[in-house]
Amino acid sequence: MVNRKRIMFVFGTRPEAIKMAPVIKEVEKYPDVLEPIVVVTGQHRQMLDQVLRIFDLDPDYDLGIMEENQTIANIVSKSLQGLEEIILREKPEMLLVQGDTSTAFAAALAAFYYRIPLGHVEAGLRTFDKWRPYPEEMNRKMISDLADLHFAPTRTSLKNLLEEKVPKEKIYLTGNTVIDALLTVSKRNFSLEKAGIKLAKGKKMILVTAHRRESFGQPLRDICTAIKRLAEKYRREIEFVIPVHRNPIVSRVINELLENVDNVELIEPLDYEAFVHLMKASYLILTDSGGVQEEAPSLGKPVLVLREKTERPDAVEVGAVKLVGLTEQVIFEETERLLTDRSAYAAMSKAVNPYGDGQASERIVGALLHYFGAKDQRPEDFNVKITG
Ligand code: UD1
Ligand code: UDP
Repeated sequence: MVNRKRIMFVFGTRPEAIKMAPVIKEVEKYPDVLEPIVVVTGQHRQMLDQVLRIFDLDPDYDLGIMEENQTIANIVSKSLQGLEEIILREKPEMLLVQGDTSTAFAAALAAFYYRIPLGHVEAGLRTFDKWRPYPEEMNRKMISDLADLHFAPTRTSLKNLLEEKVPKEKIYLTGNTVIDALLTVSKRNFSLEKAGIKLAKGKKMILVTAHRRESFGQPLRDICTAIKRLAEKYRREIEFVIPVHRNPIVSRVINELLENVDNVELIEPLDYEAFVHLMKASYLILTDSGGVQEEAPSLGKPVLVLREKTERPDAVEVGAVKLVGLTEQVIFEETERLLTDRSAYAAMSKAVNPYGDGQASERIVGALLHYFGAKDQRPEDFNVKITG
């Protein structure tokens, strides 16, 4: 028997909350051994709160750092400052961060400054390009340098960590917790119509999300122009639905270029449950999101990735996701192909799960229990089964 170990979760944005929620729920199953302390920086205010509601999470601390048009330096300095006091008061035995946001990096640094063991959920993703995605590629590399336990979602990420000389025994191959979240939510009964989302009858719906910093400016304008041309050419056949990210640098451009196009619906960011069911109702997804690239293949939805590089090559390799870049004409042609070429569409719309099997959180908590001596065995590795 061990003393109760205090696990501090720190996150701040929508995707971190979605991917951390299943781990918090799993920790709550071991009240005699583990005690969760949930800290949010509030890097995202509304989009984070939407996730907290869906997963019924009530943070113990909320730093409320978000500002309009915040800079990366704002996020890091305010998070670091706020976390200092909380860590000193709570003295956790382990701090967990997820992914590659600036909240995650600041929390990893805070853990290091106070010599708190650090666990990294979704470790080892790499594009090997310092600027793509920016600042996430460097955030995750720096977090890897600081982490004591690395929860690698896939064999690819495990291999990246081994190549960086991370000791094998500190890495756990777990699958991605986003699939745990997805499976929990996608099996709930849900009516898009009751949620106020009305889709055009008899049209194929193309779902779009875009928010990456490296696409600000012309690349985002090119994405919008490609969408406008497609919407006009296939006026009778398709409808675009775009839940517009709250970053004003993104929403300004999307609103300016697409507001007046009839078959393009610009909507507010959706809560996770509604968004998952909207993915299920889509014909095709265009996105630069990390999480959506992982979820859509599980739902059998083809994804065209609006980026030059991806740190998530696994679904690309099995043919469910295609990297199309940020050139207007290429985005137009690749989308058109999936609208007009049945076999190209069929080849991409197979349901595959390279990123997880719904048990990643169990493995992560199994690893924590092993680390603290409450379990003899390491958890079994996630074993990718690609079925199509
Ligand atoms: C952040 C992360 C990015 C992650 C993305 C997920 C960093 C530097 N970036 O980017 O890695 O992929 O979240 O969406 O960590 N805003 C609101 N309400 C919200 C959320 C955002 O108003 O709920 C607005 C604010 O004006 C804020 C701006 O969006 O200043 C930008 O938010 P920020 O977190 O800095 O950047 P993201 O592009 O969201
Ligand atoms: N998502 C959501 N509502 C939306 C759009 C996306 O809940 O309107 C979810 C999506 O299912 C995925 C996550 O948000 O799990 C991705 O977040 P985002 O694209 O903001 O960040 P990234 O994954 O690129 O870091």
